[in-house]
Amino acid sequence: MWFDALPPVVGNLHLLLLHFPVGFVAAALCLEIWTGRDHEGRGLVTRLLAANVFAAIFTAAAGLMLAMRGGYPDAVLSWHRWAGLSCAGMAALAWWLHARRGLVAGRIGLLLLAVTTALAGHLGAELTHGDGLLAWSRPKGKSTGAVAMVITPEAHSDPVHPLLVNNCVDCHGEDKQKGRLRLDTLAGAFAKGRSGEPGIVPGDPEASEVLRRIALPRDDDEAMPPGDHDALTAAECKTLAEWVAGLKLGA
Ligand code: HEC
Repeated sequence: MWFDALPPVVGNLHLLLLHFPVGFVAAALCLEIWTGRDHEGRGLVTRLLAANVFAAIFTAAAGLMLAMRGGYPDAVLSWHRWAGLSCAGMAALAWWLHARRGLVAGRIGLLLLAVTTALAGHLGAELTHGDGLLAWSRPKGKSTGAVAMVITPEAHSDPVHPLLVNNCVDCHGEDKQKGRLRLDTLAGAFAKGRSGEPGIVPGDPEASEVLRRIALPRDDDEAMPPGDHDALTAAECKTLAEWVAGLKLGA
């Protein structure tokens, strides 16, 4: 169906759109403080809050679509989803209070909106940068939950982690992101690199750029690891392919 194509495209917009509500709310908050009771200033804050209603709704809608793509730890995702939806609701409420009710009600609304937005932002950051997604960096044998959520029991990640750390993470890790690709986090591996292809497509080895690259002939310019580095063995390629095939799509 036509709308099957929508989530991946619109979903990515979430990462761009989310800056608008954060910006609007921060601006409204500053303006509210600076202008005090001044009529013109308050009018401006109301307009910012009106713009924020649209921004928050679009951001939340795009976020729901991004979540459909999967690959995020369920627990944090569900908190972030609720916080995001609350932002959209709070945005409307805060606008209404500010536009139609008195000074105090308007300020309470704005404050609550700021708290909700900050909370949603924090949880969102947790999803992209946080501990939850550093699923592969759990050297102390501590389960982060994220691994269990995303990886099926049959395709356990343990042989995969050292494989990537030893062969790839020097160039695709925290310090360097060659080809704009990170392979030390699940989020990074699922994201698109410079080529526009995602490094790993959960459940689909054929579509995963990582697996295409490691299978290329050694003299191919695109072969990974490149040039003078040792190629992965056939067994290692197989381990990686099986692991990718076993990754669950979505929640
Ligand atoms: C010595 C550094 C180095 C190592 C080690 C290395 N890479 Fe790369 N990788 C690069 C560079 C440089 C690029 C960008 C040039 C290109 O696209 O060929 C790249 C690009 C990529 C891309 C394409 C990203 C994109 O979307 O454009 C993938 C996928 C990739 N590497 C996977 C791997 C995997 C898997 C390993 C480990 C088995 C690995 N690389 C090890 C340097 C490295």
